Amino acid sequence: MMITIDGVAASGKSTVASGVARALGVPYVSSGLLYRAAALSGLEAGLPLSDARALLAQLGQVPVRLEAHPEGNRVWIGGVERTADLHASEVDAGVSTVAGHPEIRRWVDSQLQALPAPFVAEGRDMGTNVFPAAPVKFYLTASPRVRALRRAQERPEEASAIEAALIERDRQDSRQIVPAADATVLDTSDLSAQEVIDRILKAVAA
Ligand code: C5P
Repeated sequence: MMITIDGVAASGKSTVASGVARALGVPYVSSGLLYRAAALSGLEAGLPLSDARALLAQLGQVPVRLEAHPEGNRVWIGGVERTADLHASEVDAGVSTVAGHPEIRRWVDSQLQALPAPFVAEGRDMGTNVFPAAPVKFYLTASPRVRALRRAQERPEEASAIEAALIERDRQDSRQIVPAADATVLDTSDLSAQEVIDRILKAVAA
């Protein structure tokens, strides 16, 4: 059964998607990593991230490959594994511009739709645009402060700087971050990752 988990930046989507996928014995797919790979590839080629055509040409020349595993996704750019580089602050700052191009969104969507179902799909528009027929859809939120404190454990920057960057990224992503009408919206501010995973598994079993 396809499951979609969408939500705002740093709402815990990947951790939760991985936990749900492992419990169900299926892969999970982090769509944000494909947008991040497109941004990193463009940045390293010295392209302006506002230039959709140049970005698309770059993606045609230097292929991006995502491998979905229940415990984590791995991404190769031009045959070199770059997973660890996809959460650099430069990528955080540029990725929304890249994701704003309809051409790039189509590139991501076609890669996702080519993957063998079922899996847990995680992102911003999995339940609305990419897998609208998924029977179980969740949408995760959390306060900016809580999200920044969670991210501060994985990033070198101060929580206050991370919080400002998250609020700005949500603003830039606002077109993409609308919950599906049939999604369950869950505020995870006061929930542990395991509690969120358990709620989703309960909905899957219902
Ligand atoms: O989920 P993550 O924070 O890694 O996503 C990185 C960026 O990719 C988001 O800020 C957004 O700009 C873009 N994105 C998107 N649609 C998705 C997933 C991610 O536009 N389904």
